[in-house]
Amino acid sequence: MSEGALSVAFTPSGRRGQVPAGSTVLEAGRMLGVDIDSVCGGRGLCGRCQIAIGSQPGTPADPDRLSPPGPLETSYRGRRPLRDGHRLSCAARLLTDAVIDVPPHSQVRRQVVRKRPEVANFTIDPVVRLHYAEVEEPSLHRAASDATRLREALETQWSLEGLTVDPGILGTLQGALRAGKWKVTAAVYRQREIVGIWPGLRVRALGAAFDVGSTTVAGHLCDLSTGEILASEGMMNPQIRFGEDLMSRISFVMMNEDGAARLTEVIVDALNGLLGDLTAAAGAEPADVLEITLVGNPIMHHLILGIDPRRLGTAPFALATDRAVRTRAERMGIAVHPGARLYALPCVAGHVGADAAGAMLSEAPHRSRGTQLLVDVGTNAEIVLGDRERLLAASSPTGPAFEGAEISSGQRASPGAIERVRVDRKTLEPRFKVIDVEPWSDEDGFAAAVREAGVTGICGSGIIEAVAELALAGVVSADGRMLPRETPRLRWEGRIPCYIIYDGPTRIAVTQTDVRAVQLAKAALYAGIRLLMDRLGVESVDEVRLAGAFGSHIDPLYAMALGMIPDCDPARVRAAGNAAGAGAIMALLSGAARREVEELVEKVEKVETATEPRFQEHFVQAMAIPHAAAPYPHLSRALDLSGIPAAAAERPERRRSPRPARAAAGGSVP
Ligand code: FES
Repeated sequence: MSEGALSVAFTPSGRRGQVPAGSTVLEAGRMLGVDIDSVCGGRGLCGRCQIAIGSQPGTPADPDRLSPPGPLETSYRGRRPLRDGHRLSCAARLLTDAVIDVPPHSQVRRQVVRKRPEVANFTIDPVVRLHYAEVEEPSLHRAASDATRLREALETQWSLEGLTVDPGILGTLQGALRAGKWKVTAAVYRQREIVGIWPGLRVRALGAAFDVGSTTVAGHLCDLSTGEILASEGMMNPQIRFGEDLMSRISFVMMNEDGAARLTEVIVDALNGLLGDLTAAAGAEPADVLEITLVGNPIMHHLILGIDPRRLGTAPFALATDRAVRTRAERMGIAVHPGARLYALPCVAGHVGADAAGAMLSEAPHRSRGTQLLVDVGTNAEIVLGDRERLLAASSPTGPAFEGAEISSGQRASPGAIERVRVDRKTLEPRFKVIDVEPWSDEDGFAAAVREAGVTGICGSGIIEAVAELALAGVVSADGRMLPRETPRLRWEGRIPCYIIYDGPTRIAVTQTDVRAVQLAKAALYAGIRLLMDRLGVESVDEVRLAGAFGSHIDPLYAMALGMIPDCDPARVRAAGNAAGAGAIMALLSGAARREVEELVEKVEKVETATEPRFQEHFVQAMAIPHAAAPYPHLSRALDLSGIPAAAAERPERRRSPRPARAAAGGSVP
């Protein structure tokens, strides 16, 4: 060790080296490239720089390795209290060799460890940072403007270069400098542009991430430096009044000259309303929000950005842009801080949106050890398949059946909807579970529990389980026909056979037409997946992620039993929750995540299912339950598939009667 130098090691980064004796720990960290957080620039104001003495063999954790607390620390009363055993690294000086532990809350780029499935591991590295600065007062001797002196102060005190000032904040600049007596906090965007200024010290910078779906809109308010999600809110997309699904909203745009503008207006209003709720929940104001990220399907993405979406309604479904969009939030009519920026994740293709890009970012198929299938099931299923080498994406027109629409008793997944169904293999009697009702239909307390909400319909996961269970119980054949079976549950609705699940005030049934609608939807999904498997040259997938609200509801086993997805170890099929929203949060909190998603979207190979000659062939094969030819080794170990009546075995009867024979009494089959 050279004279006057001492050895210091930082954990958990593992960085170590020699620094001059008497350096503050913050200075030592900077010399050795250790990121220790700081907003006040080492003035003992912000409390972000807290560290603790660590130890390693030969260097025990001895507090005397640091200078005793001086007035800066003993008088510290910042918003972030000094934790037990911690020191302000900007005040504590190194007296001898030491090991310094930088706790997660003091790291600039801290790793977020996945706690819930929908929040992936990533490193917080926001594009907007707060910097406190002491600015030279104006004088007659120096004719530099307030903006110039602010830039100079930030550049010298924070080692920034070539800063510019957002013209939108010039109006507040002079007032803030004087109100703060030349001590201010500036928000700096991408280390280049000053986008906000406040008098004195400010330590909290907020951002909001939005996932805009055609049915629901979700927003999350985050602390940009800690990564903490401060509030989450959701609402129905108010555009529903212009059309249930995306195509009807495109029709509205085509038929009304100001249609696109009206749809933009209502969704932007909705975002502003959500921002009000989110900030109120966190004790803040919309004007405190400095950054916004956005994911959505291509039509929502275009509408929020004020782009006419009608080109997305007809072939060749051309996007206005497949790059990430960076713009001012204010220009989009979003009422936040005047310097706030909006970052829209890139869309992948005409039918594969920024929501799929967000899901890719959070589920990371490109880092998967095996082949990962990522599916977001909606009216259009967005499908991503790949591994570390290649990524493919496509969409498949599944239609609204999985959302409960176009199903005779269908409804959205909300209270009153049947979400789980089982059919007894012998008696063919059903049992079912209703959303938010604890007991199953055959358990004590069910009648009392549903009395208030009632049983009002069957949602997507319910209809999937119902059709799969009816097949497993031999009521529906592999080719999707309802067969004559001894049970009063089978009846005729006019000329259509149906199976009654619930015969209460509202009758909930699965009709032959419903089975066909589900078959068409699942065959479209499977065919899209199979096309991507062909392209990738694989016969099976190693893991499946079911994204979106619907994906969270589906039982993976039943998704396989119905033949929505290929066979896979059930332990490796899981719901990905709101993967798109998680991707929007990651992009909000990390510049590196933005670069990653932009690279991913450039790299992903887009497959257009509509022009693929084999789509039809795969579609026909996938109409069978679970599939006409694909093997299901994992599934058949978990469920007994032998009860599904083969299509061929029933043919003689089908020739005799094109539909199940009408029952003599009670209208049941037979
Ligand atoms: Fe702000 Fe130490 S850097 S208190």
